Amino acid sequence: MKKLFIIANWKSNKNVADAKNWLYQIESRIKNQELRTENKEIIVCPSYTLLPEMYTYIGKNKLPIKLGAQDISPFDEGAFTGAISGRQIKEFADYTLIGHSERRREFKEDDEILTKKVKMAKKYQLTPIYCVLDEHTFIPEGVTLVAYELASAIGTGTPDTPESAEKIAKLVRKKYPFIRYTLYGASVTPENVNSFTKLDTIDGALIGGASLDPKKFTEIIKNA
Ligand code: PGA
Repeated sequence: MKKLFIIANWKSNKNVADAKNWLYQIESRIKNQELRTENKEIIVCPSYTLLPEMYTYIGKNKLPIKLGAQDISPFDEGAFTGAISGRQIKEFADYTLIGHSERRREFKEDDEILTKKVKMAKKYQLTPIYCVLDEHTFIPEGVTLVAYELASAIGTGTPDTPESAEKIAKLVRKKYPFIRYTLYGASVTPENVNSFTKLDTIDGALIGGASLDPKKFTEIIKNA
């Protein structure tokens, strides 16, 4: 059975109390065995402000959940006001999203800056979850896990087709043989997740909106 990555991208949502409540609800479902996580790497990418409390909660309650940042500074530690460095992230997280389409669009991040971010992630042993828009997106060396997200399908309720996701995953793997895992994201729901994860070349899902609700996220994990 292949291992699946189920990744929650909370974007700019939730405060500390919301995050703890979400974790509590997931924890209850794990404890009553409604939710099983064998063969699945569950990763939550919250805002930086939530990472320390979530890290503590997850550790204390031994939850099978890993943390990821939503972004990483292209610079190392130093005089870079407002930026969060890889070393700072590594205290709490094992992963970091890099190159989400919202970062590319709203913050004008380009291949050069994203390549620097990948280097910083690697320096601090953070696994990049590298987002690609299509088969033409440049992928820097050192990336092993990518999430294909059709930008126009994000948050619309209408995902790309599994056929198209599979085609792009195959093209990306062919072009970049160092890629080990290809995920799909954009409008993933409990109802459609398995149409993607059942495919040989799709190793999991990146979930935005539906990951905010612990019930829906549980269903996604169960159905994947
Ligand atoms: P969505 O977002 O699941 O709300 O479409 C996915 C993403 O942007 O990562």
